[in-house]
Amino acid sequence: MYFDIVSIFPDYFAPLDLSLVGKARRAGLVDWEVHDLRTWTHDRHRTVDDTPYGGGAGMVMKPEPWGAALDHVLDRALSLPTLVVPTPSGEPFRQATAHEFADLKHIVFACGRYEGIDARVVEHAATRMPVREVSLGDYVLNGGEVAVLAMVEAVVRLLPGVVGNPHSLVEESHSVEGEGLLEYPVYTKPPSWRGLDVPDVLLSGNHQRVAQWRREQALERTHDRRPDLLEGRPADIYARPAER
Ligand code: ADE
Repeated sequence: MYFDIVSIFPDYFAPLDLSLVGKARRAGLVDWEVHDLRTWTHDRHRTVDDTPYGGGAGMVMKPEPWGAALDHVLDRALSLPTLVVPTPSGEPFRQATAHEFADLKHIVFACGRYEGIDARVVEHAATRMPVREVSLGDYVLNGGEVAVLAMVEAVVRLLPGVVGNPHSLVEESHSVEGEGLLEYPVYTKPPSWRGLDVPDVLLSGNHQRVAQWRREQALERTHDRRPDLLEGRPADIYARPAER
């Protein structure tokens, strides 16, 4: 899998070489290039923004550097990439989105700053390649860089061979296979710590009871914290354990 990442802050992406994502890169499972958007400016101040037509606060990213940057990566692409533009006005980025992205060969990430990128950039890009405008959540970041770090991590760990034990991908929160419930609480040694004991069932060695307890805990948590995830699900299977 290959990423082109275009940003005015290329240094944001140095940490990608740490931990699991960096290991995957060294193993040849993923690679990327980070491009400084200012490479495609031609004025003395390397300007990438301007005032918004129609007025209002803040600045808008100019289309010309973006057009040239995307021309550059497209000209060098070995296959048709998908353009991913992080923006708080995008579709939600979910675990299912991460799985979709993990099936792609080549993603170009375009990191906007300020009040966003001139809308013609995405309009024009969409005539040349698939485009996804995605939001990490209902809050506003200063730019797309942190969102790209999060998406890259979510996607790379799904690539075959990246996570040591592929089973750990199944049971965790939001996994498609694991019913999409939040994850149950986990414990390790010691069995008693600061007066708090690990639930007996986990020490019982009874795998069936453990599995049942974990599912109940996952359901309770999901009811408490993310009732939206349970909307429309059959009550006989997804009611709160105490209500069954
Ligand atoms: N850029 C600014 N805020 C963002 C968000 N919530 N998600 C994705 N990209 C963003």
